[in-house]
Amino acid sequence: MALRIAIVGPGRVGTAFARRFVQAGASFVGFVGRDRAATAEQVAAVGSGAVLAWPDLHKAHVVVFAVGDGDLAKAVEQAASIGGRPCSLWLHTSGRHGLEVFASAELLGVRTGSLHPLLPFSGSLENINMAGAPAVAAGPPRSMRLLKRLAAMLQLAVIEWRGGDKQSRTLYHAGCVLAANGATALFGMAADLVRSAGGLDRRDGDAIVAALMNAGVRAASEHGADRALSGPVRRGDAETVALHLAALQDQAAVATPTYVALMQQALLLARDQGLAPADCERVAAALSLLRPSS
Ligand SMILES: NC(=O)c1ccc[n+]([C@@H]2O[C@H](COP(=O)([O-])OP(=O)(O)OC[C@H]3O[C@@H](n4cnc5c(N)ncnc54)[C@H](OP(=O)(O)O)[C@@H]3O)[C@@H](O)[C@H]2O)c1
Repeated sequence: MALRIAIVGPGRVGTAFARRFVQAGASFVGFVGRDRAATAEQVAAVGSGAVLAWPDLHKAHVVVFAVGDGDLAKAVEQAASIGGRPCSLWLHTSGRHGLEVFASAELLGVRTGSLHPLLPFSGSLENINMAGAPAVAAGPPRSMRLLKRLAAMLQLAVIEWRGGDKQSRTLYHAGCVLAANGATALFGMAADLVRSAGGLDRRDGDAIVAALMNAGVRAASEHGADRALSGPVRRGDAETVALHLAALQDQAAVATPTYVALMQQALLLARDQGLAPADCERVAAALSLLRPSS
């Protein structure tokens, strides 16, 4: 019998998951959404399933909660208030929440877990290619087997969560957000600087930044961030750092705090890699040489 899967939250992640589950041969029961018309649109976009009411979740072997982090506890409560299909698996896709968010479902006899996909789901991208992306799975052993099966259907590579409580989950999520959304924001900022200063068009500016960021990420993942670091901070070149800061303050002040924060972090890596203490001090001094804004 095909696995019957329902999804609460017909948003970016919910819709991408539904499409993949259908392609993988699961029986997609449908979406529970907040807005009936918008939910019907997403059902049509997936080409399978139906607009569901809360009691319809009883039909599913698996209920995926793909609502925003702030809405998750309430959505679980709403589902729990009508009961749960015994032994079905309820899982969420949030990075921020642990399994404590299922507290209201504790006495229902459902299994719980989470599967946090580690790739950006942008609403503007029609078909998200999940193949090979990692996903962090959390849950007791009796949930893990099915979580792994679901991940395989989604073509996600499972990493099992071994962390602890709510607080460590929040730190983990902060790291993920820094890596994903921080990198996107950094890309935009660096591309603006390169483009405007070099008189380049958008394509060339983006190509330059993409090449540099890809190479930096590749080197850091292969050798570790400290050994991968290059550039003026790694060389202890305080003069260049001071020139950068002066130019940024004059022409792109909005980028200055980002430059300072990231180069301070780079300085820690450079120190770990053996940059001489005197050079570390000179670079640190250059990074604190901000002129008061007029
Ligand atoms: N986007 C990503 O890149 C990404 C990556 C990994 C993990 N995640 C996680 O996946 C989850 C979903 O993220 P998303 O980006 O897909 O969010 P989203 O696009 O905002 O979609 C959330 C959907 O849930 C619906 N919803 C909210 N409360 C509901 C409720 N009580 N009952 C039924 N439907 C409800 C929303 O309806 P309305 O339209 O009415 O608000 C919306 O359709 C989050 O926990 C997020 O952290 C996201």
